[in-house]
Amino acid sequence: MGLEVVNLTAKVGDKVVLRNVNLKVDYGEIHVIMGPNGSGKSSLAYVIMGREIYEVLEGDILLDGESIKDLPPEERALKGLFLAQQDPPQVPGVRLSSLIITYTNKRLGAQDLTRPKDPKVIKRMYEVATKLGLPKEILQREVNVGFSGGEKKRSEIMQAILFEPKIVIFDEPDSGLDIDGLRIVADYIRSLKESGKGVLLITHYARLLGYVKPDRVTVLLDGRVAATGGPELAQLVEEKGYAYLKAKLAKEKGSISA
Ligand SMILES: Nc1ncnc2c1ncn2[C@@H]1O[C@H](COP(=O)(O)OP(=O)(O)O)[C@@H](O)[C@H]1O
Ligand SMILES: [Mg+2]
Repeated sequence: MGLEVVNLTAKVGDKVVLRNVNLKVDYGEIHVIMGPNGSGKSSLAYVIMGREIYEVLEGDILLDGESIKDLPPEERALKGLFLAQQDPPQVPGVRLSSLIITYTNKRLGAQDLTRPKDPKVIKRMYEVATKLGLPKEILQREVNVGFSGGEKKRSEIMQAILFEPKIVIFDEPDSGLDIDGLRIVADYIRSLKESGKGVLLITHYARLLGYVKPDRVTVLLDGRVAATGGPELAQLVEEKGYAYLKAKLAKEKGSISA
């Protein structure tokens, strides 16, 4: 059960960004993905979500044992996957409140996507915004247009809370956040785990891991799984750096160029 990535190889343009990647996110578990810039972390998140520019060459993606590899992104979202993006895109012309209403209506099977099928949604989105330290006016603004870095991140968390996904993927939620923002994200991640959701947490640094204890850690290098382990692996990366792992892997497999 949960999310399973099986022997996944994928490309974007001419570049193969993932090579035979295997990993699992069980419910009630925080699985941390680490890796240097360009190692394929965001690509992994996008391929799981079904972003169209990526092509799966081999392998599969399973949610609760069922393949979702050929489903469009909306259907994956409706099945319970949510991605809090590293750089959430601007959506000019669409208010944040409309986005939330459309999505929640879709999930409730409403025909009219513009008027909230469940009137409680409006109240709830203001509550969540306030809790996350977002100004209420932000709900009436166009999605991410002119949002500060921290507001974008908080807005992503707000959507994640309101959409009630089963598996949440966070792509570097700590980048661009101040210390209060970091605590909010960390609290939310812990609450997800406690309520039995699965978390795939992509992070560049171990900083966030001071607040959130991972159950499993996977290190990606050049699109491959270089190492898997527990919290001690994050510690090792923090202490010795990626170059150490890279050298170790090259020695063991002779397959990765330095
Ligand atoms: N649209 C694209 N076209 C070609 N190459 C890309 C594209 N998007 C990402 N890449 C490349 O794929 C590799 C992995 O990128 P990414 O998954 O963003 O890494 P990370 O998130 O670990 O920093 C990088 O070398 C990047 O330049
Ligand atoms: Mg990235």
